[in-house]
Order: sequence, then C-alpha cells, then structure tokens
Amino acid sequence: MRRPLIAGNWKMNLTPSEGAALATTLRQRIGMRSDVEILLCPSFVALQAVGEAIRGSEMKLGAQDVFWRDAGAFTGQVSPLMLCAVGCEYVILGHSETRGRFGVADPDLDPTILSYFSETDASINRKLRAVLPHGLRPILCVGETLAEREAGQTERVLQTQLEGALQGVTADELYELVIAYEPVWAIGTGRVCEADEANRVCGFIRQTLRDRYGEDLATLVRILYGGSVKASNAHALLHQPEIDGALVGGASLNAEEFEQITYCAPKR
Ligand code: 13P
Repeated sequence: MRRPLIAGNWKMNLTPSEGAALATTLRQRIGMRSDVEILLCPSFVALQAVGEAIRGSEMKLGAQDVFWRDAGAFTGQVSPLMLCAVGCEYVILGHSETRGRFGVADPDLDPTILSYFSETDASINRKLRAVLPHGLRPILCVGETLAEREAGQTERVLQTQLEGALQGVTADELYELVIAYEPVWAIGTGRVCEADEANRVCGFIRQTLRDRYGEDLATLVRILYGGSVKASNAHALLHQPEIDGALVGGASLNAEEFEQITYCAPKR
C-alpha cells in the first residue's frame, strides 16, 4: 500500500534559525510518526539547519530545486551531490513557480521578468535524470493554469508535462518517483480544487503512467495534491483513493496547521 506523504514546501520563507525552530517544534509533535511520511522542504540555505533539527527523527528533508550537474562553473546553482551531502532524500522538480507559471497575478511583478524563472519540460527532464542515480527521490510537479482548464486543456497539458519530464526514463529508474498535481490556479489563492475533481485528475495521471510504464509502476507511485491545502480541507482530499498525500505551501509554515494536516491522512 502507498504510505501517505505530507510534504511542506516552505518556498522562499524562513531563515535557517527560523526554519530550525519550526522543525524542532514539528519534531516534538510529530517527529516519530510512522503512519505517514513527513517531509520538510526549506530553502537551500536552511537545509543544513533543518536537517540537524530533525536528525534522528522519522521526518525527511527535501530541497525545492536542483541543477543537473554534480559540480562546475554554474554560478548560483546547487547540485544533487550537495543536496545528498546535507541529508536530502527528496527534491521538488518542476514546481509551477520555477516554471514561471504563477496562479496569482502579483502587481509588483513585471510580466517580462517571469521568463527568468521559466524552466522547461526539457530542463526538468535533465534534473530528474540527474537526481535518480544519487538516490534522491524526485517530486515532479505538474498542473494546468486557469486559462488552460477553462479551455478544456487540463489533460493535454498534464500529458505533455509528464511525457516531457519522463522522456528517456525507464520504469526501473522511476521506482522512487512521486508526482504532485498542483493546479496553478489553486496555489496560494485559497481556491482549493474540489476533492473529487482532484481525485479524477490524479487518476488520469496514474492512467498516463500505467499506459507508459505498466501497472507495477503506476501502482507504486505516490500522487500528491497541492494547492491551498489546509487543515479544514485536507481530510476530504486525503481520503480520495487516487490521492496519496499533500504538498503544502502556506499552511506548512504554521506548526499546528501542518500537524493537523498530517492527522487528516488515512491509515493505509
Ligand atoms: P499553497 O499551499 O500555499 O497554495 O502552495 C501550494 C504549493 O505550491 C506547494 O508546492
């Protein structure tokens, strides 16, 4: 059975000391849970401090992005080797924010700047292939914008993102893959995807994996939902048969809220 995974994506929040404080609180409350897997994904600079704060507990450490080379003249980048060295077991790949696809229009953000964020399915594919040999588990994010959903393109967009990211990767290599369905319009907006619709789309993602890689892999892969998950809506989402956990943004910065979300996961 797939063990639920509840992951906190802290995004560009919390200094190392603030992150260590939150991790220490979470460790005291839910650090030894075995019914759910609990993952914290702080910023690069807080990985070391948060890793130390949760060492010896059951909680896991993950990064929010990575570059695909192990070392070299790549100013500003962080390699898979470096993530492993600070104790990361997971890495988020292809988040809509790193793809330059934002759900909320920020009036202070010049739209031309967005292209600086935008990685492609091809760069995500490179990252995915680079982390697997290191034993880092990718959390591959996919999701459609509101305009794409309203144009009836949700499935096509997801299929393109999945195929692009997984190109040239075999089922054996994908043993540790996690996928997060994160509709862009639900991220940071407070507008959550209805649980049955999120379940339907996660089922579509699993079917796409089944068609491409067969039943064994499709059954193994955990598919998370992300986008405005809170303690008040987590129970309905996490009890859907195709949803194996949550990738939580804003609510993961509050210890009590995040703890409550972990208790919404079903016992499987
Ligand atoms: P919110 O939970 O803040 O909507 O963010 C979701 C997300 O992007 C997690 O990766």
